[in-house]
Amino acid sequence: MELVAETQEPDPGPPPVRSPRWRGSAESLFPALMCDPDGYTDAVRVIGELTAALRSSAAGRTGLALAVADPVDFLASHRIKGSRSVPAALLVGVACEIRERELPPEPVERTPAPDGCRIVHEGPERAAHHAVRGQVFVQEQGVFDGADVDARDTAPATLHVLATVGGEPAGCVRLYPLHGPEDRTGDWQGDRLAVLAEHRTGHVGAELVRFAVATAGARGGSRMIAYVQPVNERFFRRLGWSVVQESVSYVGHPHVLMDIPLTAGA
Ligand SMILES: CC(C)(COP(=O)(O)OP(=O)(O)OC[C@H]1O[C@@H](n2cnc3c(N)ncnc32)[C@H](O)[C@@H]1OP(=O)(O)O)[C@@H](O)C(=O)NCCC(=O)NCCS
Repeated sequence: MELVAETQEPDPGPPPVRSPRWRGSAESLFPALMCDPDGYTDAVRVIGELTAALRSSAAGRTGLALAVADPVDFLASHRIKGSRSVPAALLVGVACEIRERELPPEPVERTPAPDGCRIVHEGPERAAHHAVRGQVFVQEQGVFDGADVDARDTAPATLHVLATVGGEPAGCVRLYPLHGPEDRTGDWQGDRLAVLAEHRTGHVGAELVRFAVATAGARGGSRMIAYVQPVNERFFRRLGWSVVQESVSYVGHPHVLMDIPLTAGA
């Protein structure tokens, strides 16, 4: 097998290397150093030759992945005699680690920014809102058995919100005014906040919460409440929410009751 210099031609073959297998190889050499100093010296010789071979072929990360995928073949194709005591995979791994340090840093993969949030009515976007809820609260969390739809969904004052990323559904929230005997005038509630697992920590959730708060404020609300899963209390605190009551049972599970004041221009 010949390595192709990546500076000359892009290699479309193997998939991108997400978690390089050569990392940590150098540490694995220490046991050999402790129990077999001669074998260690020999291994250092092989690693030197391998590193030189990787440099001369201008191996980039794809080239390193190819070498690690078949270390015996890599040794043979460069006519390098292996070590008598250290496996070829380890030797190639260490050489790849050395070579990787010489390469420019990998570009950081960034999650695309959310497109924004919008109120969705009947039709495909409303179906997408419900699909996100079903995926998160029924499939993933098992908070609801079968479906999480309730009477609030058909109440005329209830607003359903969908967030998208790259045009695809990514998250949702639901909000509605409260008119119960115990509710204060101007109270709104937000619930069913959910972001699909693959879009989490990309600020979709925060944008949904801010959108819900701004929407309820613009419609005359003075306070929004939410029953928050304890694991998300800090997430809400960071968005300006306060704890009203710890350990409240909601949909059969422990939650924290939190609230935030609303203003018309929030
Ligand atoms: C809770 C949830 C909506 C958060 O959405 P998200 O899009 O992942 O969160 P964001 O990226 O907007 O978070 C904003 C910030 O809070 C942090 N954060 C997210 N979840 C957090 C949590 N549970 N606790 C503390 N911080 C959290 C993020 O890392 C991010 O930090 P940064 O500003 O330093 O980058 C999402 O994890 C989710 O859908 N979980 C499953 C359903 C669920 O639990 N719903 C809420 C019911 S109360």
